[in-house]
Amino acid sequence: MKILVIGNGGREHTLCWKLKNDSCAPELFCAPGNAGTAELGTNIDLGVTDIADIIAWAKENRPDLTVIGPEAPLCAGLADALEAEGFRVFGPSKAAAELEGSKEFAKEIMKAAGVPTSGYAVFTDAEPACKYVREKGAPIVIKADGLAAGKGVTVAETVEQAEEAINDALGGAFGDAGSRVVIEDFLVGEEASILALIDGEHVVLLASSQDHKRAYEGDTGPNTGGMGAYSPAPIVTESVLEKVRSEVYDRTLAELKKRGITYKGVLYAGLMIHNGQPSVVEFNCRFGDPETQAVLARWDGDILPALEACVDGTLSDDLISWKADPSVCIVMSAGGYPGDYGKGEVISGIAAANEGATVFHAGTALDGDNVVTAGGRVLGITALGTDLQTAVDNAYAAVEEISWRDAFYRKDIAHRAL
Ligand code: GLY
Repeated sequence: MKILVIGNGGREHTLCWKLKNDSCAPELFCAPGNAGTAELGTNIDLGVTDIADIIAWAKENRPDLTVIGPEAPLCAGLADALEAEGFRVFGPSKAAAELEGSKEFAKEIMKAAGVPTSGYAVFTDAEPACKYVREKGAPIVIKADGLAAGKGVTVAETVEQAEEAINDALGGAFGDAGSRVVIEDFLVGEEASILALIDGEHVVLLASSQDHKRAYEGDTGPNTGGMGAYSPAPIVTESVLEKVRSEVYDRTLAELKKRGITYKGVLYAGLMIHNGQPSVVEFNCRFGDPETQAVLARWDGDILPALEACVDGTLSDDLISWKADPSVCIVMSAGGYPGDYGKGEVISGIAAANEGATVFHAGTALDGDNVVTAGGRVLGITALGTDLQTAVDNAYAAVEEISWRDAFYRKDIAHRAL
């Protein structure tokens, strides 16, 4: 069994790690991969949106399944292009991936379907957009409509910050992705992430998790791609899960179907939960990062049958079970992230850390025999424990083994649940 995984982040190393541990131990290829995926299979030097080159590679090497990690190739139509050539693909079509590719599209679907979410308005000109935020007041959320590499969302505490974000986006800071802005009402509550596998018809919710989006302790500092995660998230009770299933997933998928769009792959609902009621903050058309590290660490048994069932339309709950132990992932980042950061720092201590935890690579590369930093989020140190505090202690003990110049990480991952 040959599997091609597209991507080079912590999510993709985690997917490769989980697949490699399956009973069929597939032969893995990762494009472009990182120093972690290189230990599990073969890295291929292809960009994630180089669709023609990926198709050419697939024709020559005939993968049995391609798993697409990041949003950019999904929104660019990589799944469609591979399927058109007869390849089996885990990941939604370009039309379905618009749930992440266009915030306006996602909002419009949710509104039509009656999915709980915040009120919103869409603008292409700064003047009416700024007038709108002056009327609404702050806090308020400004989002670039398109994909902006995780940088397109501003939670503005003041009207001035909101106006600045509007002017930045519409002024071209995110290129075409910011040519429209979606302005959303600020939601109060506690955030959680639910990922679901979907085969076009059936939905299986995966274990809940909670991300930590701000860079520094106490949820302060700039927004990042995610500085750590844990699973399960106690805020996601059985009753919340039932609402997420019926009010979020069932309604969204029915609305997509009405429009002739079938969703296959993983759909991530970023939620705000207030008084037991979940509201959707955003949809992502892919596994979360670092939620995947925390969630897949708890997946009990093989993952490949569930991914293949999504492709074949045969997904069922009995394909997935969970370890009772909670998990924690601590993201170690390069100094300066999410702003400018250096690369090429030699990382030490990974082998020692791997004794008590699992070190998932994100922004890493090989430089001779050394593993060096190559991105903002560098490693995701992930551990299980008999209870959450033990999982946290295990993860931080492993983090202490690892060092490079300017490494930093948050010291309070899972604080809400503890
Ligand atoms: N951790 C947030 C995301 O994957 O988008």
